[in-house]
Amino acid sequence: MNGGDNGNRGPSRFAGKVVLVTGGNRNTGLHLVERFWRDGATVYMCGSSDASTAKGAAELEARGVSGVVAKTCDISDIAQVSALFDEIERGSGRLDILVNNAANQGLGHGGPLEMDPARFHDVLDVNVVGGFQVTQMACNRFFMKQESRGTVVFLSSNTAMRAIRNRTAYCASKGAINSMVRALALDLAPLGIRVNCCAPGYINTERWDSLDPAKAARRRLNCPLRKEAQGSDIANVVAFLASDDSANMTGEIVTCDAGCSCQHMPEDVDV
Ligand SMILES: NC(=O)c1ccc[n+]([C@@H]2O[C@H](COP(=O)([O-])OP(=O)(O)OC[C@H]3O[C@@H](n4cnc5c(N)ncnc54)[C@H](OP(=O)(O)O)[C@@H]3O)[C@@H](O)[C@H]2O)c1
Repeated sequence: MNGGDNGNRGPSRFAGKVVLVTGGNRNTGLHLVERFWRDGATVYMCGSSDASTAKGAAELEARGVSGVVAKTCDISDIAQVSALFDEIERGSGRLDILVNNAANQGLGHGGPLEMDPARFHDVLDVNVVGGFQVTQMACNRFFMKQESRGTVVFLSSNTAMRAIRNRTAYCASKGAINSMVRALALDLAPLGIRVNCCAPGYINTERWDSLDPAKAARRRLNCPLRKEAQGSDIANVVAFLASDDSANMTGEIVTCDAGCSCQHMPEDVDV
């Protein structure tokens, strides 16, 4: 696939750009991949296993998104990250945009008194160490060798600022991502590399399909805008942060959560 040839895809905001989306094989990641592809980019994506990566690739083809390069990569494993970058080197010889979307959700760990500390490590190994080592490799293997450098967008969460129950490791990892984004931005700004972050709230994913409708309605009532984000809403923010439209921004955490973070209590509790 040639990212410079925009064919009949639509706007060419990212024509000629090479993009890597980690965790691009399902849910929000699929929307991110599709958005960059439709805007003219050459897109690489990874999932953590062969089966899930192949499933994501098939889903993209079914959506008419063809030619995306899908490669299995557990981002917590440096050897697999290196192999992924070998693939990008062979296929495109450059990288312009890195989207650190992959996440271990840390679901089902129980509360902080009973959770196995090894599961805490699992979450941090993917969300924090994984995101860091993919970013470091993008900088050293591509951005620093390119005159136009490159830009990084992390996916964090509004749970970095307002905790949710029984997700200690996940909330901690997202707080660490916010701090890491600022630290990376500070060190990399003089080198011409921008690092920013989108912090979503509720996103409609396949997990909403099995949600009790009453619970879904209650979640929407929690949102001042009365709706969760769609993957495309998050893709809009990420595309802005990855594009020259945000050329003077770095180290920013852009919240996209239907107004949840600006309220003290949901309307029905606010008495
Ligand atoms: N969903 C929400 O309501 C919400 C809210 C706030 C923030 N966020 C953040 O937004 C992003 C997308 O959320 P989502 O709900 O769409 O995610 P998701 O459905 O949980 O999918 C996570 C993605 O990360 C990949 N992944 C997990 N571990 C990996 C590893 N070790 N190596 C490589 N890839 C790995 C998964 O690939 P496999 O399928 O192959 O494991 C999958 O593609 C995440 O960063 C999430 O924390 C989501």
